[in-house]
Formats: sequence, C-alpha cells, structure tokens
Amino acid sequence: MRVVAIQASPNVDGLTSTGAQRALEGAKAAGAEVELIHLRKADIRLCLACDAGWGKCRDEGVCVIEDEFEPTRQKLYAARAIVLSTPVYFGETSEIVKAFLDRLRRCERGAKERSPLPNSAVLGIAAAGGSGRGTVSCAQMLERCFSHLGLRLLDILPLTRWNRDYMLPALEEAGQRLVAFAQE
Ligand SMILES: Cc1cc2nc3c(=O)[nH]c(=O)nc-3n(C[C@H](O)[C@H](O)[C@H](O)COP(=O)(O)O)c2cc1C
Repeated sequence: MRVVAIQASPNVDGLTSTGAQRALEGAKAAGAEVELIHLRKADIRLCLACDAGWGKCRDEGVCVIEDEFEPTRQKLYAARAIVLSTPVYFGETSEIVKAFLDRLRRCERGAKERSPLPNSAVLGIAAAGGSGRGTVSCAQMLERCFSHLGLRLLDILPLTRWNRDYMLPALEEAGQRLVAFAQE
C-alpha cells in the first residue's frame, strides 16, 4: 500500500515537513511504501476560473493549465492514503495548498467515478510555527476541502512549537493508524 505526503512549506526540514515525515515514518512502520512531495518545488499555478468560473474541469475533470498539477494529482491517485501538511499562514492554509486543492476539487467534480480519491484516506496537519494560533481555522479549511474531494478523514492535527514534543509521536502513531484505516 502506498502513502503519499504533501508538505507545503518552502522549508524542507521545518515544522510542517517534520510533521509530514513523522507521519510517513509511522506509515512505513505499518508496512506502507511512502513518498514525500515538497509542493513548493512543484510548478502549481492558480486556477484561471475559465469561462467565468468553471472550464473543462467541470465536465471532463481536467485542467487546461500545463504545469505540475496533473502529475501531482496522479501521485495522489496512485496512493491509498494521503498526508497533507500545511504551514498555517494567517490562520489559513498556505497559498500553494489553496491553489492546488482549489484546482483539485474542481477537477474531481468532473472526474466523478473515474477518480479513486473517494476510496482514499487522509490525515491533515496544520503546522503553526509562530504563536501557534490559527490551527483550528486552518483545519476547518482543510476539512472542507477533504470533504469536497470525498476523502475519508482520519484526523486533522494541530502542530505548534509548544506541542511538538507530544504531537510528533502522535503523528507517527497517526501515520500507522492511517494504513489500517485506509484498508478498512
Ligand atoms: C505570512 C505568514 C503568516 C503566518 N501566520 C501564522 C499564524 O497565523 N499562526 C502561527 O502560529 N504562525 C504563523 N506563521 C508562521 C508559520 O506557521 C510557520 O512559519 C510555519 O510553521 C512554517 O514553518 P516551517 O517552515 O518550519 O514549516 C505565519 C508565517 C507567515 C510567513
């Protein structure tokens, strides 16, 4: 079974990435093949809102922009479970997570039963490296996107400077549980 983690901080070894890596360590210990994607290294552009809102995404399930959105989507398609770790910016997800998930939820609407995502499990991480405030509102954004994508939600965990000592082991455990949850 394959588990793919997306981490969306420009910092490849910061809090956001560490949270994703710990979840993957747990998934690997449970027998999964794992892959970490640094989303900021990918060329993911903003939705063009073609035709005043929706374009080919709505009916055909594809995006007209030729960048690394579709290859990243295919990596998620090949996984049975997904970890999505975003830095908390202003109490929300980072810009690139919003850009990626906005295009994904548009395209998934058109993909309908061709998409394997409704059978995939997801674990979200909201990493707030500053004051630690804003994890709840960020988690709400993630929860709504996961719901639009039809993903099966295991959990969305807040990760801060203040809770990292006990949250990183919890994320490792959550990664392990994700493997079992994805197979239920
Ligand atoms: C524009 C911006 C807004 C931010 N807003 C918050 C915030 O609302 N709450 C918080 O705790 N940290 C905030 N931070 C800090 C980030 O959450 C922190 O940089 C994040 O954990 C990424 O750290 P990492 O690179 O170590 O993963 C903000 C950072 C930036 C750049």
